[in-house]
Amino acid sequence: MGIKVVNLHKSFGEPPVQVLKGIDLTINDGDLVSIVGRSGSGKSTLLYVISTLDRATSGEVYYDNQNITTLNSEQIHQLRNSQIGFVFQFHYLLPELTVLENVLLPAYKKKLQKEKREYALSLINEVGLSGKEGRMPGQISGGEQQRVAIARSLLMDPRYLFADEPTGNLDTVNGDNIMALFHRINESKKTTIVYVTHDLDYANQARRKIELVDGLLT
Ligand SMILES: Nc1ncnc2c1ncn2[C@@H]1O[C@H](COP(=O)(O)OP(=O)(O)O)[C@@H](O)[C@H]1O
Ligand SMILES: [Mg+2]
Repeated sequence: MGIKVVNLHKSFGEPPVQVLKGIDLTINDGDLVSIVGRSGSGKSTLLYVISTLDRATSGEVYYDNQNITTLNSEQIHQLRNSQIGFVFQFHYLLPELTVLENVLLPAYKKKLQKEKREYALSLINEVGLSGKEGRMPGQISGGEQQRVAIARSLLMDPRYLFADEPTGNLDTVNGDNIMALFHRINESKKTTIVYVTHDLDYANQARRKIELVDGLLT
């Protein structure tokens, strides 16, 4: 069981520019996968399409043998809310909420904010932000905001975690900590993790590394 991508194409614009030109990829449950490639090679696009945040132009994406390219938007939301965590390259915290409230955000939809509070605090601790749970996003650094977003993505214990350059704004110590956290989550919760990175050391820490060149995987 896991995710299977078959002959995936994605184009943008008119006339269409092909970004992904026939990607075939299998991600097994429990996997830890890194995606590398030059800037503009389509890494974010691939991550978005695999994670349901964007639609393919053609080709299929299967979750446990279910073709998600045929799901309607309500079914997609259901899948996303129940199984998927996402860390954006630009974290999208809500500026009027505290650090803790931002981390708890995915719990509000299911009215689980009380039950998840302790877990949220432990995740804030794991990303090295203990003591800052009451700050507003504007009162912490960009790297700290990114770590809040990482804690938020893990709150609901997603089956799949997708992260777009999660360490891109972090210094070495905090980048190393996030990679260590990914390894811990992958091992202890069996979370399947797929992350994009520019950093070859971090890419090599994955169990599997895939590279995008000219819209295809090498
Ligand atoms: N929404 C969009 N509309 C038009 N072009 C896009 C869009 N998203 C990405 N692209 C183009 O697709 C290519 C790949 O982008 P992206 O997936 O962001 O690359 P990477 O993450 O590897 O830097 C780039 O040329 C980019 O300009
Ligand atoms: Mg990108």
